[in-house]
Amino acid sequence: MIQLEPWTDGDMPLLVRLNAPEMTEHLGGPETPEQLEKRHRRYVAAIDSDAARIFKVVLLPEGVPVGGVNFWEREWEGEPVLEMGWGILPEYQGRGIASAAVAKAIEQARATSRRATIHAFPSVDNAASNAVCRKLGFELLGPVEFEYPKGNWAPSNDWRFTLRQYT
Ligand SMILES: CC(C)(COP(=O)(O)OP(=O)(O)OC[C@H]1O[C@@H](n2cnc3c(N)ncnc32)[C@H](O)[C@@H]1OP(=O)(O)O)[C@@H](O)C(=O)NCCC(=O)NCCS
Repeated sequence: MIQLEPWTDGDMPLLVRLNAPEMTEHLGGPETPEQLEKRHRRYVAAIDSDAARIFKVVLLPEGVPVGGVNFWEREWEGEPVLEMGWGILPEYQGRGIASAAVAKAIEQARATSRRATIHAFPSVDNAASNAVCRKLGFELLGPVEFEYPKGNWAPSNDWRFTLRQYT
């Protein structure tokens, strides 16, 4: 059982663990301490913004932070959409936590965003992340060359989840 909680100032240690080499294998490798500090500031500031939702994933009943799931507004192929991303710490993987967390984030997006679709762009060789998309009912649109984070381009899959038919 997990819950999503807003990212707060005390969550930098979790971000450092999510930045480990084995966590960023499909994301261009670890970010520098400066990049990570900037990311943390952006995540904390998002609490005052409607354009992004940044959550830590907390395992219950222990109350242990085990990962993160985020969505934010962007343009994709000329359309206003949401993009979603996620990560679960290695020692908690393989227990259905990402699937549960992404399902909850989809419900948050449905409740709080006017955007009609969510896209996710796991790299084509990220088997676990592609499995999360497939399992939760994202539709596979096909391969694209995708940049995440800035400066890291990788062959990726464009997956789309339809929240509603019209904005
Ligand atoms: C992707 C990630 C979040 C998955 O977390 P998780 O909690 O282990 O995922 P779940 O336990 O919910 O598993 C989801 C599905 O993936 C499948 N899966 C997990 N690892 C897999 C692997 N290596 N190969 C194939 N399928 C895999 C599971 O079998 C499960 O499907 P099922 O329920 O039909 O069996 C985790 O591996 C991670 O954080 N990776 C590093 C960060 C990252 O790549 N993020 C995604 C960027 S787009």
